[in-house]
Amino acid sequence: MGVHNTRWYPKYHVAAPENWINDPNGFCCFKSEYHLFYQFHPFGVNWGPMHWGHVISKDLVHWKHLPIALKPDEDYDRDGCFSGCGIEKDGSLYIFYTGHMHTPETAELGFDYVQVQCFAVSEDGVNFKKYPDNAIVLVPETEQVHGGDFRDPKVWKHGDKYYMVVGSRTPDKLLGQVLLYESDDIIHWNFKSIMSRAEGNQGSMWECPNFATIDGKDVLIFSPQDVKREINSYLNVYQSGYFIGKLDYKTGIYTHGEFELLDYGSDFYAPQITQLPDGRTIMIAWLDMWNNPMPEQADGWAGMMTVPRELHVRDGKVYSTPIKELESLRVAETSYENQTFYEPKKFEGVSGDVGELIVDIDLKATEEFEIDLRSSAEEKTVLTYNAALGLFKVNRDKSGEGGKGERECPILPADKMKLQIFMDRSSIEIFINDGERVMSARIYPRDNAKDIVFVPTGGTFKIDSIKFYTLGEGIPQP
Ligand code: FRU
Repeated sequence: MGVHNTRWYPKYHVAAPENWINDPNGFCCFKSEYHLFYQFHPFGVNWGPMHWGHVISKDLVHWKHLPIALKPDEDYDRDGCFSGCGIEKDGSLYIFYTGHMHTPETAELGFDYVQVQCFAVSEDGVNFKKYPDNAIVLVPETEQVHGGDFRDPKVWKHGDKYYMVVGSRTPDKLLGQVLLYESDDIIHWNFKSIMSRAEGNQGSMWECPNFATIDGKDVLIFSPQDVKREINSYLNVYQSGYFIGKLDYKTGIYTHGEFELLDYGSDFYAPQITQLPDGRTIMIAWLDMWNNPMPEQADGWAGMMTVPRELHVRDGKVYSTPIKELESLRVAETSYENQTFYEPKKFEGVSGDVGELIVDIDLKATEEFEIDLRSSAEEKTVLTYNAALGLFKVNRDKSGEGGKGERECPILPADKMKLQIFMDRSSIEIFINDGERVMSARIYPRDNAKDIVFVPTGGTFKIDSIKFYTLGEGIPQP
């Protein structure tokens, strides 16, 4: 079938080669190359029996497609090879994943599928052999754990041992939780603890747990389902966020602070992190959201990934910034300085559907402003900031096809605001104040919507500097 129209197909983001993709999987560094896998349904533009698609990169920016790494061809994964992780051990690449099986015989227990943890190994990073004694981890038989939902293993090494977190929920399906396992050899695993469980409005099933020590803090990342809307927060069907805390490896008990979102946009889910040999923690997520419309399905593909983001813990929060390697995509630069204006304004050379925009705004002189991206006479994606409210908003009501509505995030008061925005045909990723907040969204405007308009909505718009870069290709076009 193939992708038959590239109007919305990204130029530098990893996306479905054709058909459907969702979560990033197996993100890791193996023999000095970066591997990224993803949930893939190779036979249709909707979700279906999950395979693992595979791309590889030397710099996290330029990617190459590789053959499918995992297919659901064993009894224990017959209905899908669900999400999981990748890790190097003794010169081999191990990928851990969830085998999904429909089991009508368990329906009387309240669930009609069973999920088990499995792994496969590769010596060359391309061909994977499933472990002959899969599955290696079955749902623990305790009254604290739901028998069906048990998925998305993430493995890491600490001291001489390996640890694994798996997403889970309570048997009454009311509270999401994460289970912790321990192993000496990465193959035989012991259930250690329920490492963390939802308290209050923190979701009924925790998908895709990830764990890492970042800047000395133990960060648990997860994607909770069914967090209830609170005024203008949690408007997406599912969320992705984190706790910052401390894991006691002896007891398996994790103490932590509040739940925080990793991204406040309409399309961001199932983030996966990896720690690179140089010490950085890098995150990639699915730049989509369950239940959101995906107009690119008409073109034979569905789904893309975010740009890789570097994570840091500062002032009790996780900051995410685009990795510095993305600068290698920059082709031409247009820049302006010290611009003060009172009417809507466009800048020559600052426009397009693929590019990076960096704007430094003087908030002492600018009480509120609007920036329209992908703007034409009929369409625009509207970003606004209002200092009195302390809110930054993204509105997609006029973005073209696809989802509509508004998302917002709180911003700490300051004299300056820095915006770094990546546009790639059908996506925008907005990094505010060097990663204090991020908002990601899919948008589906027409080809002619390429203007960027700066609109003073509170009298004065004072900009210290604007830089716009056209960006080159990061992954072969279909
Ligand atoms: C998250 C998720 C995972 C699961 C996968 C199936 O988006 O639901 O929990 O492993 O997608 O494709």
